[in-house]
Amino acid sequence: MNPKPVQLLAVALLAARRAGEHVMANLGRRDDALRVERADVKHKLDVEAQEAATAVLRAAWPGHAVLGEETADAPLPDAEVRWVVDPIDGTVNFFHGLPWWCCCVAAQINGRTVAGAVCAPELGLTFEASSDSPALCNGRPLRVSQTDDTRLATIHSGAYKGEPGSQSFRFMQRMAEIAQRPRVMGSAALDICMVASGKADAYFEPGIYLWDIAAAGLVLERAGGTLEVLREFGGWRMAALATNGKLHAACKDALAPLFDRGPA
Ligand code: IPD
Ligand code: CA
Repeated sequence: MNPKPVQLLAVALLAARRAGEHVMANLGRRDDALRVERADVKHKLDVEAQEAATAVLRAAWPGHAVLGEETADAPLPDAEVRWVVDPIDGTVNFFHGLPWWCCCVAAQINGRTVAGAVCAPELGLTFEASSDSPALCNGRPLRVSQTDDTRLATIHSGAYKGEPGSQSFRFMQRMAEIAQRPRVMGSAALDICMVASGKADAYFEPGIYLWDIAAAGLVLERAGGTLEVLREFGGWRMAALATNGKLHAACKDALAPLFDRGPA
């Protein structure tokens, strides 16, 4: 029998916190990157924080599958529970010294997220939710905003790092047109947690990975919001829209038609 969602959440929190503690203990190594690329940074602490989180998960349930950003190409064993780990979401922010990054751990059963923890230790914020327990930040309940007009909404986004060009900016332009203000903060998981907290109204990204959004997506849903995968591209990559619910149809109507336009 599978563990209960609240049991999975307790271990998700432990693993996300352990990853965060490892990074915090190594803040002096911010420039210790494995590779600094044109549109990305691969950091040694990404790898180490994933190992720290995975050790917690394996100690609790050795038979579960673990999909981690740093080892995403490795084959996954068949298991009833799949853990999804983003050791540092916002690696470029972290590398440049911004505190806006987090460690994410989600548990999925049959592809559905049932527990999620997002720990942002430099901000002092821990978000959590399970399918049997509420969305919380530092123990306090979360609720999405009531904004129902995109012209009064902040919409967060990011540029897909594989294509920081015209395709991404076509979506950015549309968001800027419909929103009160667009925002590009550099961590998809924190963007979605901000929507869950009522501090942002929507988030959309045309190319984002499962590990960026799995844990935060459940926090959002349990806070009354809506996460929808608008396109799946394979290799764990997808287009995702996360809103307070009231803005969902308007954002989708504005953004979804842009997928069908040819190259810009
Ligand atoms: C990235 C961040 C960023 C988003 C990128 C992601 P990483 O994750 O979430 O906000 O725009 O698409 O890949 O690389 O920092 O784990
Ligand atoms: Ca990420």
